[in-house]
Amino acid sequence: MKLSSRAKSVSPSLTLAITAKAKKMKQEGVDVISFGSGEPDFDTPDNIKAAAIKSIQQGFTKYTAESGTDELKKAICDKFQKDNGLTYGPSQIVVSCGAKHSLYNIIQAVCEKGDEVIIPSPYWLSYPEMAILAEAKPVFIETDDSSGFRISLPALEKAITKKTKIVIINSPSNPTGSIYAKEELMKIGKLVSEKGILIISDEIYEKIIFDGNPHVSIASLGEDIFKNTVVVNGVSKSFAMTGWRIGYLASPDNELVTAIKNIQSHSTSNPASISQMAALEALTNSGTIVGEMKNQFEKRRDYIVDRINKIKGLSCLKPEGAFYIFCRINKKGLSSMEVTDRLLDEANVAVIPGKVFGSDAHIRLSFAASMGNIKKGIDRIEEWFNKNG
Ligand SMILES: Cc1ncc(COP(=O)(O)O)c(C=O)c1O
Repeated sequence: MKLSSRAKSVSPSLTLAITAKAKKMKQEGVDVISFGSGEPDFDTPDNIKAAAIKSIQQGFTKYTAESGTDELKKAICDKFQKDNGLTYGPSQIVVSCGAKHSLYNIIQAVCEKGDEVIIPSPYWLSYPEMAILAEAKPVFIETDDSSGFRISLPALEKAITKKTKIVIINSPSNPTGSIYAKEELMKIGKLVSEKGILIISDEIYEKIIFDGNPHVSIASLGEDIFKNTVVVNGVSKSFAMTGWRIGYLASPDNELVTAIKNIQSHSTSNPASISQMAALEALTNSGTIVGEMKNQFEKRRDYIVDRINKIKGLSCLKPEGAFYIFCRINKKGLSSMEVTDRLLDEANVAVIPGKVFGSDAHIRLSFAASMGNIKKGIDRIEEWFNKNG
């Protein structure tokens, strides 16, 4: 079969290849410690599971409205009001099969061939591929440890052209864990919205922010910014619900929301009815679970950052949110792919090469793993770098 040029333009996922290799080694009996995971290691809370079971037993197993049930959309509006000070109506919400699906839908709805999508780099690896799938061009703004992985206003100004359609902001960020301060977001938001460019604010790690800092949604920083922003969020990371596949978006642009609903109606229809009931329970009755997970993540972050910065050949900033450490490889000539391959083969530790996120000088370690495994894994990394770093 001759494949479409669209299909051929998409890169295979290196992350999946590495996790598959680590899994195979485990199955063969090798004691592999994995820092690769992009999902909380906690189980979905019992009340959320029970809500899903109840919905099955009550026969809530049919199609729903393509953009989600009214009840869930109302709960999402309440969440936006309470957590972010944002006022949306249920008709301005679209629930999709994960935040990834929400992001995909927006880019499909907005981009034409040749349009440009500005993506701060390092970036979450699906953003550029989604732009390419919409025949748009990803335009990267490079950042590094010295700027805390945050873009500057002059760099943003320089990257914007007549073809710029979207600027993606991801705070807290995967893979760097950096967050933007309110003042920085305000400046970015003003600049981008004055030019009539759409901001996608990916806030999927909103609930995992450390040191008592608040989450600020860029959409909350002025009327013009609000009008030009689509906020994307979901239940995957906040409630340990990655497999349930529920994400959502909100925008006051009714034309855009309708276009997204239309696209979704011809691809997946509605997100799973059962998962929607589970998400409703998560958003309306989460108790203290979110805070408890965050506290665990914060303890692990503190431990791992302290250890990494004592390893000869590696260094890292303290991530302010999410559950990843983006470590700089300080030895010249040692690429992220080589470190990743050799750590797996020689130390039985799985990490993700920074190359997939736009920086070959880094490796990403997820701390969505037990403290016991983190200690064991860091010991092995330390030993490997003592020999090779
Ligand atoms: C930055 C970022 N955005 C979006 C997603 C997608 O989340 P979901 O599981 O809701 O599709 C991820 C998942 O890894 C992510 O890291």
